[in-house]
Amino acid sequence: MPELLQKAWQLAAHHHEGQRYNTPQEGVTLPYLTHLGAVLIETNYIISQEPGLNANLMRLCAILHDSLEDTNLEEETIRTEFGEEVLAGVKALTKNESLPSKQAQMEDSLARILTQPREIAVVKLCDRINNLSPAPSYWDQAKKRAYRAEAELILEQLGPASPVAAARLRTKIAAYDVS
Ligand code: NI
Repeated sequence: MPELLQKAWQLAAHHHEGQRYNTPQEGVTLPYLTHLGAVLIETNYIISQEPGLNANLMRLCAILHDSLEDTNLEEETIRTEFGEEVLAGVKALTKNESLPSKQAQMEDSLARILTQPREIAVVKLCDRINNLSPAPSYWDQAKKRAYRAEAELILEQLGPASPVAAARLRTKIAAYDVS
């Protein structure tokens, strides 16, 4: 259903408007939508390689995966437009920022993702595959090492949901420069 995906994409474009992120090239930023597109492309690849996945659920959650965490989009809007299953998936992909540390937030989110259909775990793997592109130039070694360790935890816990995504994330971790 392209219309539903386009509706999600437009909603994400509207709510993430103005947000940009840093690239490895100093001073070069990209619109946040570039990240959402990259995660969507990654999920499409996994869908093409592994039959039996709920493609619509994965694509909608890929587009909306940061919308509750990083924008003022209301849960109610996701429920009304895309249904309970998509809302539950996006909520599991959203960190609980009232927890005290990044590690606690990640462990909590991973535990909630594991209660969802496996498609949600695959979206999280796809998100981290894209996020393990080379780090911004100002990240120090400790930050890069912590980020790679977090990726290893994601791979360990969610990798069984998708052999293809797990292999891609493993390759990205191996290639990630922490120097
Ligand atoms: Ni993301």
